Amino acid sequence: MYGVVPEVKILRMLRNLLKNLRTPGPAGAPAANEQPQGGDQRKRLYDSALADAQMGRIAEAIAGCKAILDADPNYPPAHFLLAAIDLPGEDYFRVLARIHAQLRPRTYVEIGVDKGDSIRFVNSETRALGVDPEPKIGFELPPNVKIFAQPSDDFFAQNDVRAELGGLPVDLVFIDGMHRFEFALRDFMNVEPLCAPESTILIHDVYPLDESTAARDRKTIFWSGDIWRLILLLRKHRPDLEVHTIGAQPTGLAMVRNLDPQSRYIRDHLDDLIEEYLAVDYAVLDGCKAERLALFPNDWARISALLEKPGAAAPR
Ligand SMILES: C[S@@+](CC[C@H](N)C(=O)[O-])C[C@H]1O[C@@H](n2cnc3c(N)ncnc32)[C@H](O)[C@@H]1O
Repeated sequence: MYGVVPEVKILRMLRNLLKNLRTPGPAGAPAANEQPQGGDQRKRLYDSALADAQMGRIAEAIAGCKAILDADPNYPPAHFLLAAIDLPGEDYFRVLARIHAQLRPRTYVEIGVDKGDSIRFVNSETRALGVDPEPKIGFELPPNVKIFAQPSDDFFAQNDVRAELGGLPVDLVFIDGMHRFEFALRDFMNVEPLCAPESTILIHDVYPLDESTAARDRKTIFWSGDIWRLILLLRKHRPDLEVHTIGAQPTGLAMVRNLDPQSRYIRDHLDDLIEEYLAVDYAVLDGCKAERLALFPNDWARISALLEKPGAAAPR
C-alpha cells in the first residue's frame, strides 16, 4: 500500500510513540490550529499533533492532522498518525505474526508480497506460496516459500495450487494484492474452494481511514483503496461466513472463517455483485464504520480465542 515511504519503520515508530496514547498528559504543547503554509510549517504542525497524541489530547491531535491534510492532502505522517489514533494497538504485521505462531498452518497463500515484509512471518514447516506480478523481495527466501511472479487471476487460472501444496488445502490465506474491491473479491472467490471449512482467510486494508484514502484511483501515498466494499458484500451475501475486522493499524485486517469450499454463490453472481458494490457510496460508512465493517477489538487474547473456536483448525 505505502510503496514510497518506509512503511514498516513508520508503523513501528508510531506504535512505540503511541503506546501511551490514551494517557492524559499535561497541557502545554502548541495548539495545531494554524493553516500550514509550507514544509517547515507543516512539519511544526505535525510535531505538535504528534505531541498532542502522545499526551492524550486526541481531539487536538486529530484537528492538527486534518489542518495539515487540508493544505496538503498527501502527507503520509499525518495519515499514519490519524490511523494510529483510529486503530490504536498492534499493527497488522504483529497480528499476522501472532496468527502464524498460533495456527502453525501447514500451508499458506499470500496474494501481494511486495518486499516480503509479511511473508517473512511464515514458519519453517509451512509450505507457502506468494503471488505478485512485481515482487521486490530483497532477501533470500527459505526453501518452503515459493513466489509466483504473476497477477493473482493468472496464478489461480494457470497453476494447480493444491498440487503445489502437496495435495493439502490452504490453511491460511492473506489477501493483500491490488487494492481494488473486485480484485480482492476474485481472490476470495478463487481461494475459498482451495481451503478447508476450518481454514482462515485474512484480508488486508478493509477498514479505511477516510474517503480520500479509500478512493479507487490512488491519489495519496497512504492508500487502502475500496477493499472495504468486500466486507459489506460478504456480510450481506455470505451470512454463513464469520467475518471479523481486527482493528489492526493502519487499515484493519479482516479474518474470515467458517468457510464453505463448495459455495458457488460469488462465482455464479460475480458480475452482479461487482455492479452492486461499485454503486455503494462511501457515505454508507458515515457514523457507523465500525459496525458496518464488523470491527473487532485488537486484543490478542480475544483474537486468539476466536481462532480456537470449535470448528477452527486445532493449533499444532
Ligand atoms: C501493499 S503491497 C503488499 C504488501 C505486503 N503484503 C506487506 O504486507 O508488506 C501490494 C502488492 O500487490 C501487488 N499486486 C498488484 N496487483 C496484483 C495482482 N493483480 N495480483 C497479485 N498482486 C498484485 C503489488 O505489486 C504490490 O506488491
